[in-house]
Amino acid sequence: MAERTTLIAGNWKMNASSEMAVNLIDGLLTWPGKPGVEMLVCPPSPYLGPVGAMISESDIRLGAQTCHPNASGAHTGDVAAEMLADLGCSYVIVGHSERRADHGETDADVHAQAEATHRAGLSAIVCVGETEAERDAGKTLDIVGAQVANSVPDGATAENTVVAYEPVWAIGTGRTPTSDQVQEVHAAIRSGLKERFGDAIASGMRLLYGGSMKPSNAAELLALADVDGGLIGGASLKAEDFTAIADAAG
Ligand code: PGA
Repeated sequence: MAERTTLIAGNWKMNASSEMAVNLIDGLLTWPGKPGVEMLVCPPSPYLGPVGAMISESDIRLGAQTCHPNASGAHTGDVAAEMLADLGCSYVIVGHSERRADHGETDADVHAQAEATHRAGLSAIVCVGETEAERDAGKTLDIVGAQVANSVPDGATAENTVVAYEPVWAIGTGRTPTSDQVQEVHAAIRSGLKERFGDAIASGMRLLYGGSMKPSNAAELLALADVDGGLIGGASLKAEDFTAIADAAG
């Protein structure tokens, strides 16, 4: 099996102030680090510059929460992947279920955003996940498989693409699937990637779990064979919790 660096990614969503960002980053900067574990913070776009400056001397990486498919132009309010690269980002989250729901983003939109991310030289964290109704109807693997197939672009490699499995019903709810359920979906994602991209790329690509990951369940989730990290919302807003999750990895 390929060695995969564990990625512990904090998705701050629309939560921050200058004061909060300083306090949170100050806390994260005290984390001594752990071999084989990469820490990433994804603040709201107005805070990317200041947060980037605060972590520039550290190993903590910077990421954004979305991008526009185009490199520039008449798209009021949007941000290009090239701008994110210019600000020092390494990653862009694309296709988060909240973007899919709030902004009607489709797999085709997410695909275009992931391509833009690659064009700018950054890594895309492509989010997929079923709703509770879809799980109850036994459609989880079909839904997630289709989202991965249609959202991940052909140019994906182990270096430029991460897939995050986030069951919609587990996000921000305190509910998580069982370990068996998580591993089943991750294994299915990896086998779909293998069919399309071949063994080397698929076995090197990181698959994150997201949805109510916290210090008390992180060790169990991160120990699963095909879980290579976490995409963490609520618990990424407290330095103590986020570093505890990073410590639980590996
Ligand atoms: P949560 O969010 O950890 O608060 O459930 C995860 C996410 O939406 O990325």
